[in-house]
Amino acid sequence: MNWISGADLVAAVSKAGGMGTLGPNAGQKTPCNDEKEVAERLRGQINKVRSLTDKPFAVNIAVASGDAKKFSDAFVRTVIDENVPVAIVTMGGPQVYTRELKNAGVKVIQTISTVRHGKRAEAEGVDAVVAGGYESGGHLGIEDQTTLCLVPQVVDAVHIPVIAAGGITDARGLVAVLALGAQAAYMGTRFLATYESDAHPNVKEAVLKAKDSDLVVLCKNRGVGMSRVLKNDWSNKFYEKEIAGASLEELLALMESHVMTKPGYLVSRMYVTFCLGDVVQGSVSVSGAVGSISELMSAGDVVEQMMSQAKSLLKKLNK
Ligand SMILES: Cc1cc2nc3c(=O)[nH]c(=O)nc-3n(C[C@H](O)[C@H](O)[C@H](O)COP(=O)(O)O)c2cc1C
Repeated sequence: MNWISGADLVAAVSKAGGMGTLGPNAGQKTPCNDEKEVAERLRGQINKVRSLTDKPFAVNIAVASGDAKKFSDAFVRTVIDENVPVAIVTMGGPQVYTRELKNAGVKVIQTISTVRHGKRAEAEGVDAVVAGGYESGGHLGIEDQTTLCLVPQVVDAVHIPVIAAGGITDARGLVAVLALGAQAAYMGTRFLATYESDAHPNVKEAVLKAKDSDLVVLCKNRGVGMSRVLKNDWSNKFYEKEIAGASLEELLALMESHVMTKPGYLVSRMYVTFCLGDVVQGSVSVSGAVGSISELMSAGDVVEQMMSQAKSLLKKLNK
């Protein structure tokens, strides 16, 4: 999770037996437009994780296109140079980096949101897929297949391990996706509200307060990735434009739009939201299950509690 999952969160998750994943802009507090510097920052975070734990961890690589591809290229080089054990690749096709990463001995997990993309990732040689349902926080796919619907279809269609994502915040979700045939659960929003996450305290507070009815999905049925966010001034304005029939170009411009934090200083809305803590004009992307998260916890406790409760739940179900 960009700006959110830095070395402290990753090490805490991995130490507890999960696999922490460094976000592309992990552990940073200031924006940066230089790909070499951003890659060096990532290297610093990788080293910090290794100073905190010797357990395996992953780096998330969001495949960029056009001019921005120099950023994801630089991240891939850092992952390879640093012998990071696992890369979780997202936002772009598996043909872009799978071979390069695999040739360097990095395990590749590809995020997908349709059966077709799962089969394609398998054909490209990835080691596992994360099947992310419509409940997920972050960027959603273009189809609104829920985790309950998507995961068993992907499990039936591929021969590699399937990791389920979307709407999982506790042991009940974990056991449910194991029943669907997944081998693991991939969680975002639950870790946002942990002591170790780098999200601004305002964001953590907003997550803890949010109810099931505080959400809106933007860009639905527009043929582009959707996004579920908390209702606020910005998302209300966006949604009003959307239902008034704004063109896709107008919506995308609003979605991507930068925010002027001081005269002449434009920064991304993600930065304004997650680093500066503007939960009114920011885009607070969260899980459909955000209403089930009510306690700020340590990330290690999230993992350990989940594992122990899942064991008792499985015992109960087996009776
Ligand atoms: C604020 C936020 C930012 C995210 N950023 C990324 C990202 O940069 N790369 C990525 O692969 N997934 C990203 N995700 C998605 C998560 O990796 C994960 O798939 C998703 O959160 C799972 O759904 P859940 O939030 O219901 O647990 C993000 C999710 C959230 C909530």
